[in-house]
Amino acid sequence: MNVLITGAAGFIGSNLTHYLCAERPQWKITALDALTYAGNLENISALVDSKKIRFVRSDIVDQVGVEALFASERFDLVLHLAAESHVDRSIHGADVFVRTNVLGTQNLLSAARGHGVKRFVHISTDEVYGSLGPTGRFVESTPLDPTSPYAASKAASDLMVLACAKTHKYEAIVTRCTNNYGPYQFPEKLIPLFITNALENKKLPLYGDGMNVRSWLYVTDHCDALLAVAERGRAGEVYNIGGAAEAEIPNRDVTFTILKLLGKNSDLIEKVADRPAHDRRYAIDYSKINKELGWKPRTPFPDGMQKTVDWYLANRGWWERVKSGDYATFYEKNYRNR
Ligand code: NAD
Ligand code: TYD
Repeated sequence: MNVLITGAAGFIGSNLTHYLCAERPQWKITALDALTYAGNLENISALVDSKKIRFVRSDIVDQVGVEALFASERFDLVLHLAAESHVDRSIHGADVFVRTNVLGTQNLLSAARGHGVKRFVHISTDEVYGSLGPTGRFVESTPLDPTSPYAASKAASDLMVLACAKTHKYEAIVTRCTNNYGPYQFPEKLIPLFITNALENKKLPLYGDGMNVRSWLYVTDHCDALLAVAERGRAGEVYNIGGAAEAEIPNRDVTFTILKLLGKNSDLIEKVADRPAHDRRYAIDYSKINKELGWKPRTPFPDGMQKTVDWYLANRGWWERVKSGDYATFYEKNYRNR
């Protein structure tokens, strides 16, 4: 199997690349990434150095570059994760979200179909469904009702992928996942930001009343689901991927868990102004993927949090480089002229 992973130097993409190298060592993997602020080649450099994968620096919006890549290599499968992924950034500037998430996805999809790539798995988010009240869960047929520019751009790209599957009978699939956490997550998202700030004795900026609920999924469980969908998912379908019911936790409690694991005091918490249109609650009904593909989340939240905190403790150099901006030149310094 010849596989292209986009966004492979980001959080989930790098975890997925490591995971697939271990689980499917016979697969030939090309890792594509533009190395934006969120992409860090250090995350997968061990795999590049040992020649387990090939790395291509490319922007998915660049039609010429993408076309040349697909013309030079016959991929069987595209796992598409490249995206602008942070809600707060999308509130401050939506243009790049439309560019990458909508135009980039369409560009990649056209090239994949045009070059006869059999399968295209588009990794999306539960945020396309908008916000839940105190009860209920998102199912695959829940109407799309995105509230942030990020979620709106992902919803638009989902619709392009699903329309392509219908119009051209193309084997494209959309997955919609809840919030992931684990190693290599860029410290702008809640869990890595709060872990690393606490380690630096900096304040933890908790939005609003801290009672917004997210359904937390350990990143390796997401990788398990993506492999199942890639190998056995039905073309043209949407699959929701979510955390277990006990992992549906308000931000305030996630924050206390982090402080407890690090032995830090709750006076580090700083209540700050709420995010505009802050979605109150996400929760996923994952019974479709469970029934069809036998997937369910396996890592209990306390175990996943312990592993995550341990990783950030053991990899202080990684997140200090990321937080100081130092990581951004890693590719130029070590790989550009190879
Ligand atoms: P991330 O921001 O950590 O990584 C995104 C990667 O995409 C980066 O390496 C970046 O350099 C790359 N990229 C951005 N623009 C690009 C472009 N124009 N061309 C090529 N590469 C580009 O994001 P993540 O958290 O790993 O999320 C990966 C995917 O999963 C995204 O599509 C996101 O919408 C989706 N998702 C994430 C979560 C989550 O909790 N993190 C949950 C559900 C879905
Ligand atoms: P985030 O990690 O940005 O993911 P998403 O917005 O995609 O769910 O945020 C998770 C939750 O944490 C969300 O309810 C917003 C909240 N949050 C804070 O309270 N403070 C912060 O500094 C951040 C980044 C998030």
